[in-house]
Amino acid sequence: MRAAFASGTDADNPLAALTVGERPEPVHPADDWVTVEVRASSLNHHDLWSLRGVGLPADRLPMILGCDAAGIDPDGNEVVVYPVIADPGDPRGISILSERFPGTFAERVAVPRSNLLALPAGMSLTDAACLPTAWLTAWRMLRTVGRADEADAVLVQGAGGGVATAAVALAVAMGKRVYATSRDAAKRERVAELGATAVEPGARLPERVDVVVETVGAATFDHSLKSAAPMARIVVSGATAGHEPKVNLRRVFAMRLEILGTSMGTPEELRDLLAFCAERKIQPVVDSVVPFSRIDEAFAHLHTGQAFGKIVIDHQA
Ligand SMILES: NC(=O)c1ccc[n+]([C@@H]2O[C@H](COP(=O)([O-])OP(=O)(O)OC[C@H]3O[C@@H](n4cnc5c(N)ncnc54)[C@H](OP(=O)(O)O)[C@@H]3O)[C@@H](O)[C@H]2O)c1
Repeated sequence: MRAAFASGTDADNPLAALTVGERPEPVHPADDWVTVEVRASSLNHHDLWSLRGVGLPADRLPMILGCDAAGIDPDGNEVVVYPVIADPGDPRGISILSERFPGTFAERVAVPRSNLLALPAGMSLTDAACLPTAWLTAWRMLRTVGRADEADAVLVQGAGGGVATAAVALAVAMGKRVYATSRDAAKRERVAELGATAVEPGARLPERVDVVVETVGAATFDHSLKSAAPMARIVVSGATAGHEPKVNLRRVFAMRLEILGTSMGTPEELRDLLAFCAERKIQPVVDSVVPFSRIDEAFAHLHTGQAFGKIVIDHQA
């Protein structure tokens, strides 16, 4: 079957490690696994990390990339694929599709049947394919870990990214005052259209915030600390621009800040997210929909850092 996969890894030039070509049909490691016909998928920064060799050792190559998918299950139902697989072989006890088990950038993907969620009525497969990684992560960062219910104001760093645009859209829908930083003036304009107050990285905010959504890392972490109100939650799920920031510990204890790490979310959280988006008619922020035949161009676009929101792959084109 047609697939996009890491044929090697390249820390400096990840795009050089991407191959589009034929891979064997999915296999089922256990009886409760099923094969889904993928109709739409979406790119995540995770796919670039994999091509760089982060979390993807040489003994797992070649590996079909892709965490997110929506498609058709063996009974003909439209489904969304929850991408986290219980994995006793991994120190975390879990792995995400494309880390140990083949990912979603293929005609078909195999997962445990319990990883399939029904597509909500009124939601397109293209929109649903945006939700299982970036949007689920943002949802958990805000709702569960950041306790956004108790918050008035939220700051989202690096606003153009998949997780970040999701966090802005969700926090606005939750009725919060939302601030967002971006290095790019055009992205700041677009994030303002989503309902956030957009500022340059490092800019002083008009107020301190209760929750910070932090996926950028070293480049923005000091600003996250400075922008946090007493007892704020700084929720970290990524470190695109470096994972070893300088941290002012005096500010952490004096302001009684919580710095909380999180990854992905539970199946129940994905179910809640799907219901929230369907009820509120929230559409994911989509940068572009690219036919599978041009998936290499989609990777190149993600790699430029110019994308605003999710890059979706149409597997039927
Ligand atoms: N732990 C988890 O479960 C989980 C899940 C999803 C994602 N992540 C991680 O979260 C991060 C974001 O993922 P994504 O898929 O949303 O990525 P993405 O779509 O590629 O977005 C990355 C964003 O980071 C910002 N950025 C990058 N380099 C920067 C720099 N030097 N200074 C300031 N901002 C910078 C950019 O924002 P601007 O251009 O607007 O400034 C960019 O839009 C990645 O590191 C990813 O691995 C983790």
